[in-house]
Amino acid sequence: MVLGILGSGSGSNMQAIFDAITAGTLAARIALVLSDNPDAFILERARRHGIATGLIDCHGFKTKFPAEAQQETAACLQAAGVELVCLAGFLRLVKQPLLGAFPKQIINIHPSLLPAFPGLESWQQALTAGVAETGCTVHLVDAGMDTGPIILQQAVPILPGDSAASLHARIQEAERRLYPAAIAKLAASRG
Ligand code: GAR
Repeated sequence: MVLGILGSGSGSNMQAIFDAITAGTLAARIALVLSDNPDAFILERARRHGIATGLIDCHGFKTKFPAEAQQETAACLQAAGVELVCLAGFLRLVKQPLLGAFPKQIINIHPSLLPAFPGLESWQQALTAGVAETGCTVHLVDAGMDTGPIILQQAVPILPGDSAASLHARIQEAERRLYPAAIAKLAASRG
């Protein structure tokens, strides 16, 4: 399974996928890592592992993912032979034409037990709601926000005294196991 990874931040999920491949627990290869943020640590991590990187030019838009940029992204991923696009902390909403270029081949990791707490800062949403547990979800990406079919989920307890930072860190620990497992599950189901 040839992977392309899109991220805007630290890239700990990309690192976990890379580590699972290196350990032999995930039969895949990361062909390309793309970011919309030139300073994102995910790019540095990828370079350190000799993985090709590229920058997504969103033409000055802060949150929008312009159609032209999505077209360029799709072309880069296709040129690299990518079979599965993994969003890993990518903070823009993927729509057309990128969705159409990779039908049912784009997945995302989200820091909650979807459908609960879609959108941003889901760990803070869970704290504010006062629930006893939250978690993380890997799902197929569709045209909605964090709405596609679920591949795998992992529950994470909320402990007394949790802050937004401590809860997010516990969720991210779970994410690092969940994302490689979800990719392996998807690969097995597709032969
Ligand atoms: C992860 O916790 C991921 O679930 C979250 O961003 C973080 C990225 O961390 N994604 C979202 O909130 C998407 N709505 P990373 O860059 O270290 O992988």
